[in-house]
Amino acid sequence: MQAVILHGGQGTRLRPLTHTGPKQLIKIAGKPVSQWVLEQIRDAGIKDIIIILGDNNPNKVVEYYGEGSRFGVNVTYVYQGKARGLADAVYKVKDVITEDRFLVYLGDNIVPYDNLPSFLSFKGSASILLAKVDNPNRFGVAIIKDGKVIRLVEKPKEKISDSALVGVYAFTREIFEVIENLKPSWRGELEITDAIQGLIDRGREVEYKIIDGWWKDTGTPKDILEANSFLLDKYAERKIEGEVRESSIDGRVFIEKEALIENSTIRGPAYIGKGSKIINSYIGPFTSIGDNCVIEKGEIEYSVILDNVRVEGVSMMDSLIGNNSSVIKGKKWVKLIIGENSRVEI
Ligand code: G1P
Repeated sequence: MQAVILHGGQGTRLRPLTHTGPKQLIKIAGKPVSQWVLEQIRDAGIKDIIIILGDNNPNKVVEYYGEGSRFGVNVTYVYQGKARGLADAVYKVKDVITEDRFLVYLGDNIVPYDNLPSFLSFKGSASILLAKVDNPNRFGVAIIKDGKVIRLVEKPKEKISDSALVGVYAFTREIFEVIENLKPSWRGELEITDAIQGLIDRGREVEYKIIDGWWKDTGTPKDILEANSFLLDKYAERKIEGEVRESSIDGRVFIEKEALIENSTIRGPAYIGKGSKIINSYIGPFTSIGDNCVIEKGEIEYSVILDNVRVEGVSMMDSLIGNNSSVIKGKKWVKLIIGENSRVEI
């Protein structure tokens, strides 16, 4: 089977982080969001992966995944260009899908579903993964009756169902025919939810599975922090590959190669990236520090710090700091260089 990872979208709610690259490349717990997706697909036995690129720095995605051999898969790319909706993106793979059935996975969704192979052995025309949510108006939802999917609605205004589509779909090639006849929705997009409704309108069977527990569409900074804490909680192991001097490392802490921890305390679950230096500092639970960061006299809890960041003399929590940024305590005045849509609390 082949799998398709959607890697487009502008990531507006994650600006300024997404000014320089797609949101799916934001690293949490040591890996880009879409790498968590790719590895889950690989571990379900699918080695042939097609990544659909959007127009926000697609070259960065190609640079990162290459031909996929580093990840034990085969990656090919299809360019969507201007985003016209998920169904439009899926239609772009029409000529590269060589088998009758394929998986589609939104590359910004973290869905810790350990049973992907059972989801893929569907018999109908499509299969969808659902989760119960409190805020169904943010998602596409499915109405189920007598164990059957009878209707799908994208971003329903009224509460017609609390079963949200989590962004993992399996299709037969018939979906391409339906998309050919699809009209844009009120938000001007060709909706994948409407395409699946099109299959139901043709009398086809759409199977579903409901996942319990947590999943996340990582569209906002709050989502990224929650996904980070969830992934660290579920997957972090105690593994110390870097150097530790006169420090206390408590619990499940992963310290990558060439990192240096000196005179500091690190409480797991936490992740410290390659080449980072943590000096005279405290790193609290549910924190990921990227590669080549320097944290000196800092205290950081429940945060995601991306690559090449410098933090000096500052205590922070619930924070998301983009690549190549510095957060440094000044003597008296606060000196700031802040990008669009940023938020600073002092
Ligand atoms: C998209 C889909 C929606 C689905 C959601 C999952 O929404 O259109 O049906 O529930 O992903 O994350 P969007 O992220 O485009 O708002």
